Amino acid sequence: MSRRKIVAGNWKMNLDRTQARELTAAVAARRGTAAAVELVLCPPALYVETVGTALAAAQSDIGLGGQNVHDKPNGAFTGEVSPPMLVDLGCRYVILGHSERRTLCGETDAVVNAKTKAALAAGLTPIVCVGETLAEREADRTAAVVTGQVQGSLAGLSAADLEKIVVAYEPVWAIGTGKVATPEQAQEVHALIRSQLAALSSAAVAAQVRIQYGGSVKPDNAADLAAQPDIDGALVGGASLKADDFLGIAKAFAG
Ligand code: PGA
Repeated sequence: MSRRKIVAGNWKMNLDRTQARELTAAVAARRGTAAAVELVLCPPALYVETVGTALAAAQSDIGLGGQNVHDKPNGAFTGEVSPPMLVDLGCRYVILGHSERRTLCGETDAVVNAKTKAALAAGLTPIVCVGETLAEREADRTAAVVTGQVQGSLAGLSAADLEKIVVAYEPVWAIGTGKVATPEQAQEVHALIRSQLAALSSAAVAAQVRIQYGGSVKPDNAADLAAQPDIDGALVGGASLKADDFLGIAKAFAG
């Protein structure tokens, strides 16, 4: 079973509009041999249209994604953005349940589950993030925490829907810290996530789901991660803000 590798850039709340346009153009122009890998850019919501326009101008096949979305299609939800709105601007992906949103915005597994279903209903591919904190890892609770997040965030999804999603394993202690998980640590949790996906559906479905690693991925550590059997790509924060670094990571996953 070959899963197409997928590398996504999570720009978080960074860059201005000109920088967003320039970074998009640079990534699209220099993509080169990374074409074997699916690439996705996830700018701040206000710049989604800017990035989409820049991708279209470059005739690029790079995908566009949001960093979050509401679970209702419309209504009295001041300040929110709905799944159909992201689709309207050309998004095909949305990051859901990032640890920053779980921690800073109080998103529970139930919230992530509702958003995942809403995103799928609108035709978006959710990139559903899970991962343990340092305290949880040190207390030997990694497997229990990640299992709970997978089961809770993906509860009630049909096999057809499960096949469409991407899961991102992002140990919280590795995000933005420069402390990347070792390839062995990451592989162990990726295999666990795949077994949980099989328990939710079937081994055949689980074998199709792409599982990204995220947390301080850089060009110089990406190849070792990419060599692991259950690591199907990367969700990249800091290094996605530089075209060369982001493409260096993509190339490592292109093999
Ligand atoms: P980082 O962020 O690559 O800067 O560690 C990853 C993420 O939060 O998705």
